[in-house]
Amino acid sequence: METYRAFHQRSVTDREGFWREQAAAIDWHRPFEQVLDYSQPPFARWFVGGNTNLCHNAVDRHLQTRGDQNALIYISTETGQQTTYTFNQLHREVNRCAAVLQGQGLERGDRLLIYMPMVPEAVFAMLACVRLGAIHSVVFGGFAAHSLASRIDDARPKIMFTADAGMRAGKPVHYKGLVDEAIKLSAHPPQKVILFNRGIDVDLDMIAGRDLDYAALREHHLDAEVPVIWLESSEPSYILYTSGTTGTPKGVQRDTGGYAVALAASMQHIYCGKPGESMFTTSDIGWVVGHSYIVYGPLIHGMASVMYEGLPIRPDPAIWWKIVEEHKVSVMFSSPTAIRVLKKQDPAYLAKHDVSSLRYLFLAGEPLDEPTARWISDALKVPVLDHYWQTETGWALLSSVPGVEVIPPKFGSPGFPVYGYDVRLLHESTGEEIGANEKGVVTVVPPLPPGCMSTVWGQDDRFVQTYFTSVADRMVYTTFDWGIRDDDGYYFILGRTDDVINVAGHRLGTREIEEAVSAHSNIAEVAVVGVKDAIKGQVPMAFAVLKDTAKTATAAGRAAMEKEVFDVVDKALGPVGRPSRVHFVTLLPKTRSGKVLRRSIQAIAEGRDPGDLTTLDDPAGIEQVRSAISGG
Ligand code: PRX
Repeated sequence: METYRAFHQRSVTDREGFWREQAAAIDWHRPFEQVLDYSQPPFARWFVGGNTNLCHNAVDRHLQTRGDQNALIYISTETGQQTTYTFNQLHREVNRCAAVLQGQGLERGDRLLIYMPMVPEAVFAMLACVRLGAIHSVVFGGFAAHSLASRIDDARPKIMFTADAGMRAGKPVHYKGLVDEAIKLSAHPPQKVILFNRGIDVDLDMIAGRDLDYAALREHHLDAEVPVIWLESSEPSYILYTSGTTGTPKGVQRDTGGYAVALAASMQHIYCGKPGESMFTTSDIGWVVGHSYIVYGPLIHGMASVMYEGLPIRPDPAIWWKIVEEHKVSVMFSSPTAIRVLKKQDPAYLAKHDVSSLRYLFLAGEPLDEPTARWISDALKVPVLDHYWQTETGWALLSSVPGVEVIPPKFGSPGFPVYGYDVRLLHESTGEEIGANEKGVVTVVPPLPPGCMSTVWGQDDRFVQTYFTSVADRMVYTTFDWGIRDDDGYYFILGRTDDVINVAGHRLGTREIEEAVSAHSNIAEVAVVGVKDAIKGQVPMAFAVLKDTAKTATAAGRAAMEKEVFDVVDKALGPVGRPSRVHFVTLLPKTRSGKVLRRSIQAIAEGRDPGDLTTLDDPAGIEQVRSAISGG
């Protein structure tokens, strides 16, 4: 471990020297004057005075060396489409798209909200946006109108970029309809909606003066050359909303230069990809993993990125390995949930294809259980590396760093503190550092390294308040996770300290789901908890108190009411937030001060001991949860 240790040590004791070297991995239009400005803790500005651009680094700078090599390999098993773009072709499409956006008035600092299925045009729009110095806010397609509207109102985009529809398991998801609904709910609607028509939805309701057809606009800009706008390193590149304790998602704001450097360095030290090879990240562009490792990371590094629309088991469970074989994928990045889904299929599918091009399979987003880790590494016969990070960090915080030193993984551990992160496990209330094998809160002593969030969009106070004030009186960044370090220095993540749950690798706040459930007129009160699930890791489960209980006296009545609640959540949040069950009770377990005992409810739902109930106001609340669970 000596090489890794020395590398890590230098990254936190000689930040300037370390990151100055890493910064050489990207192009600077104007060199930076200062590596780090940390004069206003906890706000860190990296590569001050340097001018650069994400799109230039991801696309333009490769034209000379690898213009004819693949940049984007698009495969949809939903539509049967397969298209490949070289760096030259990607450059062409990005310029066309940038000209379209510029033609509609998108300028430096303006926001573009991208609400798109997994199609290449989504990537063109992201790259075109940052090319113009504008800021994108990509919203995951699984979010419905209400969630979309709250993000519109926070980011206040000048333009929205969307499509007619997405496809999931052969069924269309009507994006345009959801956009129309969200705009109706929004207090600050965009001026224009640019629509990429895939031809899935035939009955499109285009609103005159607001909605524009992308293909028609693109036709006018086929030869467009749109110059890159050089941004100062700290200028924002994008906003990405994520869930927390409150019902209002936070807009994680990312800078430009720090992010580009962090990703370029990670491609080398963590993922060990080589320019000219292919990387296949199975996430969605709506999540942070998609931003960093479907779009920017591989492209900045000169790799081809495989973008996949579809399920891992359609047309059959060998589809991903077929892609690996056909495109000689060297680095793959997926989620534990996806691997658990594959584990349930006939193992013969894994042997059908030659996956010898694969150097590593990385997994992240949720805890990787030991049986799943063991199964996939035995089956693939390539190293499987779990790593841990967050929307906020933008890249890995705990990981092995095989590009620096290969250290054998331990199943269940995402590895070690990554260079740049001064990770400490602290006692929750005293703020003291805890010893090996003791449970503590995962924290990072600031400054956070390049690539991490620079602030909460438009809310500097919230950034400080949310992330830097919760452990005793120490100003440390908390990740809101519990962790433990063993005697050998391997870290283990034990779960969140807040009300965030993780459903199939998707991060959701229980507060958001509770608010969505409460939108049903018959709901008086509701508590949502995350409950262990064999495939998805966790699923949300709701316990609701009704205003009028007459209709739920019978099992059929309860089932009908549950269905109504599902529909309300689908409409507000989208199917990602739908509870697995809604149990109806007349009382929730609460403390005498009125706080819902979510942890006790969760324990009962998982068949565990509910723990200390001395603060419970009325024991009937707990009994009701128990009988609801045992009654199915
Ligand atoms: O609780 C941790 C869990 O997911 C959270 C971050 O989720 P998100 O913002 O969606 O970012 C995902 C980026 C990969 C963390 O606070 N988490 C993430 N990776 C792991 C994990 N839990 C356990 N093991 C992991 N490898």
